Amino acid sequence: MRGYFITFEGPDGSGKTTISTLVQKKLQELGYDAIYTREPGGIDIAEQIRDVILDPKNTAMDAKTEALLYAASRRQHLVEKVIPAINKGQIVICDRFIDSSLAYQGYARHLGIDNVYTINQFAIEGHFPDTTIFLDLKYDEGLKRIESRAFKDRLDLETNTFHKDVSEGYQHVLKKYRHRMHVVDASQNVDKVVEDSMKIVLETISK
Ligand code: TMP
Repeated sequence: MRGYFITFEGPDGSGKTTISTLVQKKLQELGYDAIYTREPGGIDIAEQIRDVILDPKNTAMDAKTEALLYAASRRQHLVEKVIPAINKGQIVICDRFIDSSLAYQGYARHLGIDNVYTINQFAIEGHFPDTTIFLDLKYDEGLKRIESRAFKDRLDLETNTFHKDVSEGYQHVLKKYRHRMHVVDASQNVDKVVEDSMKIVLETISK
């Protein structure tokens, strides 16, 4: 039996990691074989690529280099972890996937959503998520949460304009993929965000 591929998306500070790990735990408590993983990262090679991308000292990184590194990390994570898990029948809860590249590199870095889609198509070969949950939070709320982080990575340290553009970019992505994207209000308390997300996940896996 084939498993499911469910991704969480949202701007920095939207609480994706907290919510997606809680959703994975809840699924396990309900008896489902669910795993949590993340991008960029999730396996050794991809975590090494993550370190290069997010190192605050790599200020010289070109936008296309950045987009290619995210795509490379995505490819390795997909073939080494996501696809084998789905083939084993597991539910894969993944913290970010292609939509992040479309919003961040395609829109906010001005590479073009279609161009970034094209390089990612080479990397993912049509393996789109069954469902994507978009944690919706006003960009300035997200910024407040980033401000309180003890360690800020290279993207956290980007300008306010960049983070605002990421939010706008996600609105374009939401329109492009209406059929698989579900919006959850991330300004609610954690329990309510988890509850809303769980409803969407349970609906997906009952199909
Ligand atoms: P994280 O903080 O959610 O772990 O993600 C690391 C950063 O990388 C975050 O600022 C979003 C960014 N990112 C991209 O710009 N493009 C991508 O394709 C992915 C997966 C993440």
